[in-house]
Amino acid sequence: MRHLVTLHDLESSEIVDIFALVQELKEKRNAGERPPLLQGRTMTQVFEKPSLRTRLSFESAMWELGGGASFFSCKEAGLDGRESIEDVARVIGRYSDVVTLRTFSHEMIERFAKNSQACVINALSDLSHPCQALTDLYTIQEITGDLSQQKIVYVGDGNNVAYSLANACAKLGVKFVVSSPEGFELKPEFVKSLMKHKPDTRLELESDPQKAVVDATVIYTDVWASMGQEAETEKRKKIFADYQVNSRLMAAADPQCRFMHCLPAKRGLEVTDEVLDSKHSIVFEQAENRKHLAKGLLVWLLQQS
Ligand code: CP
Ligand code: NVA
Repeated sequence: MRHLVTLHDLESSEIVDIFALVQELKEKRNAGERPPLLQGRTMTQVFEKPSLRTRLSFESAMWELGGGASFFSCKEAGLDGRESIEDVARVIGRYSDVVTLRTFSHEMIERFAKNSQACVINALSDLSHPCQALTDLYTIQEITGDLSQQKIVYVGDGNNVAYSLANACAKLGVKFVVSSPEGFELKPEFVKSLMKHKPDTRLELESDPQKAVVDATVIYTDVWASMGQEAETEKRKKIFADYQVNSRLMAAADPQCRFMHCLPAKRGLEVTDEVLDSKHSIVFEQAENRKHLAKGLLVWLLQQS
């Protein structure tokens, strides 16, 4: 049984295979073909946090592939409330081929996966967002044609999205620079562990965003306060003020530099309208690719299981 709890669950060569499948399915979809590769297969989604892209990308992926999907809020599924998460996992695994989970605690997804007969996909936890990072690198590859020549600079909070991007870039040998205010950087133990697993990791930390973005071919940002951190919004606005992606920051990068954001964005905070709506912005291509990535990932995971 294969799960995707973090990107450590995938070998680099497997990511390359998944990207090839994503491309093939996307080309077919654009030509009007929807091969029913998952006919009769079922997916259950259990989410503790809100979602637009992740929920809809997996649901529409499943329908386009000929399968079916159900959704439960955590209140209905009762993750660690009405019954233990282990029991929920054992039950859902007997009904479904694949389960997507969006939780606060990352450990909850690990506990679920240990007890699941169905493939488990992390649809975001406080620690990681692997499907987003896979989509992001797929999108950069699709648009630029060569991941190895890119310098991706993530400006902002060292959060779940940043961790998964760092992991994905390490797996695919892409240069990744993270620029965060003091106290909000990627945790040193994470950086150490990444370097241990992949000594050739091209990861750099540079606290000054103006310096970090020199020669950047992609600037990426995410919200300053993630889901669950809403109470810190005002405090974080002050801390992150110098980390806004605006025209001045974009001007310090490569002239062809693309702008990316996993969305949802807080316009006027981590990114200005001017950048988000500019010709450099590929955020909606990125959002669309969540569905194509979900299709490739679902087909690949279910082929392995
Ligand atoms: N990017 C992303 O995961 O969006 P949602 O929170 O809307 O799923
Ligand atoms: N870091 C954000 C990502 C949302 C897709 C959050 O966890 O809320």
